[in-house]
Amino acid sequence: MTDFRLILFSDTHVSATHPLFFHNFDVALEAANALAPDVAVVTGDLSLNGPDAPADLDFAAAQMKRFAAPVIHVTPGNHDVGYSPAAIAAEQKMTPDRRQQYLDRVGADFWVFDHGDWRYIGLNPFLFESGFEAEAEQRKMVVDALDHSGPIGVFTHVPFFAHHPGEDDDETAGTVTPAPRADYLALFQAANVRFVASGHIHKDKRLIFDGITHIWAPGTAFMSSGNDAFGGVPWVGFLEFNFSGDRYSVQKHEPEDMINMDLRNWTRGPGHRYFRVVERAYRGPSDV
Ligand SMILES: [Fe+2]
Ligand SMILES: [Fe+2]
Repeated sequence: MTDFRLILFSDTHVSATHPLFFHNFDVALEAANALAPDVAVVTGDLSLNGPDAPADLDFAAAQMKRFAAPVIHVTPGNHDVGYSPAAIAAEQKMTPDRRQQYLDRVGADFWVFDHGDWRYIGLNPFLFESGFEAEAEQRKMVVDALDHSGPIGVFTHVPFFAHHPGEDDDETAGTVTPAPRADYLALFQAANVRFVASGHIHKDKRLIFDGITHIWAPGTAFMSSGNDAFGGVPWVGFLEFNFSGDRYSVQKHEPEDMINMDLRNWTRGPGHRYFRVVERAYRGPSDV
């Protein structure tokens, strides 16, 4: 028996000016809405180039309102606000202006809400080690929110680790770095956190450590078979969570009309072609 259904989208990468991935978003949205979800959550990279093109954030914010769910919450991705200023291997970094752009156009970048007995926490992982005032505000919100007798689910764009919480890579932009990882995972383990769901890697994967299931959600936009250092299965689709009391199940969806776009070419050679492609004027059929 299902008490309520939550749809998890991630990495939609939509843009009004560069509609590279809009078909997949539209197909996935139609399939998700047919499931009559009670809650929809989107774990970041809503837009194609939010940090440098605020119009992309406006477009993404409007598209996220199309979920049929009465409750909709989104968290920011690096392609919405940029990476933490402390990130070493990152192309676009979050500045106060870029963060404010997101807050003005999309809404809060960290939040808590309850549904049934469950509590859900959404994070902005780019505040970690940022030095922004909001870094401490977010941590306080989390500490307060973890004081909850019912089960808790966490949503965030970047996974806390790739293989094991003890791995040590300060330079990675693919996962949370070791210091904030240790801090937050210790908080989660001392509380009633059941799962941490994330996007960013565009792969399907599950890991269980200390009773917490780490769920990697596929993106709707694209996948990449070029980066296998993180493990997981390159996937294009979305996840359906069904909650019953304090139990839940996760089901993967891959609607037949979606296109399994594989961007492995974009990571070949120096630099990431993502930035070259999204900054170049889009040439549609009518421009040729
Ligand atoms: Fe992404
Ligand atoms: Fe990302």
